[in-house]
Order: sequence, then structure tokens, then C-alpha cells
Amino acid sequence: MPFKAPRGTVDIMPVEQGYWRYVEGVAAQVCRLYGYQRIDTPIFEETSLFARSVGESTDIVEKEMYSFQDRGGGGLTLRPEGTAAICRAYLEHGMHNLPQPVRLHYLGPIFRYERPQAGRYRQHQQLGCEAIGEQDAAVDVEIVNLAWRFLHRLGLGNLVLYLNSVGCPRCRPGYLVVLKDHYEPHLASLCPECRTRFHRNPLRLLDCKKDSCQPVADGAPPMLDYLCDSCAPHFQVVREGLEMLGIPFQSNHRLVRGLDYYTKTVFEIQPGGGGAQSTIAGGGRYDGLIEELGGRPTPGVGFATGIERIILNLKSQGVALPNPHASPIFVAYLGEAARRDALKLLEDLRQGGIAAVSAFGDRSLKAQLRQANALGVSHTLILGEEELKTGTVLLRTMAQGKQERVPREAVLSVAREGSLPLRGD
Ligand code: HAM
Repeated sequence: MPFKAPRGTVDIMPVEQGYWRYVEGVAAQVCRLYGYQRIDTPIFEETSLFARSVGESTDIVEKEMYSFQDRGGGGLTLRPEGTAAICRAYLEHGMHNLPQPVRLHYLGPIFRYERPQAGRYRQHQQLGCEAIGEQDAAVDVEIVNLAWRFLHRLGLGNLVLYLNSVGCPRCRPGYLVVLKDHYEPHLASLCPECRTRFHRNPLRLLDCKKDSCQPVADGAPPMLDYLCDSCAPHFQVVREGLEMLGIPFQSNHRLVRGLDYYTKTVFEIQPGGGGAQSTIAGGGRYDGLIEELGGRPTPGVGFATGIERIILNLKSQGVALPNPHASPIFVAYLGEAARRDALKLLEDLRQGGIAAVSAFGDRSLKAQLRQANALGVSHTLILGEEELKTGTVLLRTMAQGKQERVPREAVLSVAREGSLPLRGD
């Protein structure tokens, strides 16, 4: 094979598209219900935008960005996440003049040079939602609720919501001193990365997955005990809001997220029993980010979810798409006259909004049915001499091999009444 898709990328083949359209459709519905309007930003941005927002000492900025210079010499980066660009757009378009919070959603490709494995790609698609301009903890509740409801509306179950607060610039520095005091006696036993984190980004010590570092991280003092008089009540309101909405959560003092812009609330949703690599959705509050990017102090909170991981979970949980027959109808024919009529039938179906295909060529009926099976279609319409004479078609249900005769004029209405599958989109 001379060429393959680049490592860590995948082709989304036609057979997979039903899942994608389904997830995108539910995303659009749920975002509309909660008032999150769609925004699309470029796939690349100035490199400095990400260094400023995601953080110089994060894995993303240090090791994972696809950065390049364009012909004008400018430093650009394929976006490694969505939030920074949304905040840039909020500032650029003066969205602080709109009623706050401004609620936005986006869906598109994200690029990270990571070690590929199941559920981890170098190009993946994220759905993200951001609510910018309101510091009320009720917005945190809304965002967590939106993420939670979206995943459940898709049909996913057995999910666990982890919740934490990472404080703010007032209380976090004091906590980091306590955290480093806890870690210092154990430095020699830590993994090399944690020894670097100890100096460069101590909060990320809590996120380490290496066996050697688990006991020290588990025993670390929780940030929640050190929250200031702004962050502590904020976290309390988030907890109460989630309880009121009946959303179960687990406090996890080791949840710190891999991006530096978070303040106060952080959360992740994982499948029950899954490891950290299986995180389906994550997010939190980022009250300092807009100011960091040159705007007036403006609070924000949001989340993002990886569509590939959602689809992996839909499959592993055996969630059936609402229209399992999201395949076109196959039109087969026997003889030259029927072949001409098949063209007409195909077009009638398509004009009626029903996807339809045919094999054409000089194939036997048996070969056409074999092809219909190979395409995974659920129903085939068969035209032969008898059908032409009587103005009917044979409707074959492929799974059972059952055939019934339907008047030609009734084909469309039979299809519309749902006896024949309509295409999923
Ligand atoms: P994140 O946790 O880095 O957050 O990514 C969000 C989601 O994208 C993850 O939970 C996961 O489902 C998916 N994801 C991340 N990396 C990969 C990958 N390499 N392959 C497949 N899926 C992946 C953010 O990016 C933040 N911008 C979220 C946010 C929005 N926070 C506030 N607003």
C-alpha cells in the first residue's frame, strides 16, 4: 500500500456515517434546547493564542501541537482544542455587548500529536459548548447538566461524573505550597515527569497515571480544603444544583485537567469502569482566560466531548441508532423493459425523499440481490415482467427473504408510513 492515512487519523467510511449524523443531530437538538448557538472558527490560529491560554508547561503546548510557519512567516497551529479560539472570537467580535452569558457551541476537528491508541487520535472531532460572561455558579450547573443530558439522550448509560474545584489565583498559590510540601519528601520515588511537574506545574502532579506516583498523589491534601471564601461557596452551589437536578457525581480531588486555564469548577464524564484515557467529556470554568487574551476580566465555563469516543461507547454499549435501517432501498430488475422502468422507480423514490440505489449492468437477479445484501440494505424492490404487466413491485425484506406484492402507486406511501426504511438523515 503506497499511501495510508497519517498515523493517528482515520477515514470515516460510509458505513460509519450513520453514527456521525446521529451524534451531530442530537448535538444540534440539545444545543438548541439549552440556547447554545453554533459558531465556527478557523482550524488554525496563531500559535501564541494556545501558548497563552492552554499554558506553556502543558503537554498540549509542550509536545502535542501541529505548529508551522506559513509563507508569510507567521507562526500558526492547527487547533489543539476549541476554547481558546472561542474566547478569541468573543473578544474580536465584541460579544461582551451581547446579553451575557453568550452561549456558543462548535463542532469540528482538533489536532494533537499524541501516541495513538484506541480512542486516542491525532485528529479527532469535538463538540464543545461555552457560556461566557457570567460568574454565577448556576452556569457551571447548566454546563455540566448539558454535557450529562447530551450523553444520556444519545442513549449512553453507566456514566460517572467526577467533580472538583481547582480554586483561583487567590487560593491556589497557597494550596500549591501545601501540595509541594506533601510531595517533597517523596521526590526521589516519583516518575521523571512528576519531578519536572513538581517545579514547572505542580497541580498536574495529581494527574499522573504512573503506578509509582499513585500512593503520593492519593495521599495529597485535597484542594477543596484550601478554597477561598469565593471558591468554596461557588463549589457548594454547583454541588447543590447538581443534586437538585438529580445528577449523581463523585468528588475527585485528583481531577485537575490537562489545560492551565481552569479556575474553580472542573469536571469529567467517564464510562463506569473505564480508565482515564476513556474520558468522554471534560470541562470547567476559566474565569481568567479572556483577560489573559487581552480582554476585560470576563468569566467563562464550558466543556467539550470527543465524538469518536462517544461512538466507541455507543457501540460497546450496543446502543441502536433510532433508524437501524439507515440504508438506501435497493432496486433490482429482471429484463430490459424492467431495467428502464427501474430508472424511473429509483428517481420516484429519491424525489419522494427516500434514498435508493441500483446495481445496473448486466447482472442476474441473484447477483443483484447478493449485492443488495453486501450493501447491508434492509429492503429491495424487484421489477420484472409480471410486475410491469400488473403495475406492481415486489417488496423483499432482506433479513427474512420475505416478499410481498405492492401496487406501484403505493410504493411511496408505504415507504412514508415507515414500512420501508427512510434514510437516517
Ligand atoms: P479535553 O479534555 O482536552 O478538553 O478534550 C475534550 C474531549 O475531547 C475529551 O474528553 C475526549 O473525549 C476528547 N479528546 C481529547 N483528546 C482526544 C484524542 N487525542 N483523541 C480522541 N478524543 C480526544 C478540552 O479540549 C477543553 N477545551 C474542554 C473545555 C471546553 N473546557 C472548557 N470549555
